[in-house]
Amino acid sequence: MSNLTFAIIKPDAVKNGDTGKIYDRIISAEFKVLSAKLINMTLAQAQGFYGVHAGKPFYDELTEFMSSSQSMVLALEKDNAVSAWRETIGATNPKEADAGTIRHDFATSIGENAVHGSDSDENARKEIGFFFSEAELISNQ
Ligand code: CMP
Repeated sequence: MSNLTFAIIKPDAVKNGDTGKIYDRIISAEFKVLSAKLINMTLAQAQGFYGVHAGKPFYDELTEFMSSSQSMVLALEKDNAVSAWRETIGATNPKEADAGTIRHDFATSIGENAVHGSDSDENARKEIGFFFSEAELISNQ
């Protein structure tokens, strides 16, 4: 088990003014924010980040949405961070997310589901490395 995971507060949540409320959920759930930044992902970045989904029916919609406006990327630290963050955000489809989870409370659809979370320790390391330099992380450890 690793103590790191990667999160995105997605464009729908940022546009809706929910960035602060979701950041507060992160702190309340006792994650340490190692690094965070507001970015406007390029289409190429979104395509690279979600490369594992290339060819799936929702890939174009997903990458266009993720590059449509600002999002916040975060490197989070906590014991068992990947599973802890997935519990905090709830199911990918907000209609299936448990009450009290971030997606239940802030998301509107499976495509615009407010937040992202890594699905494994290996992907967490890759995803953090996709958006953050070593220096950006180490300075906060
Ligand atoms: P995320 O956790 O960021 O990882 C992949 C994303 O693809 C997922 O959240 C959803 O937003 C999106 N996604 C997964 N399945 C579908 C689907 N069936 N239709 C549209 N988007 C999807």
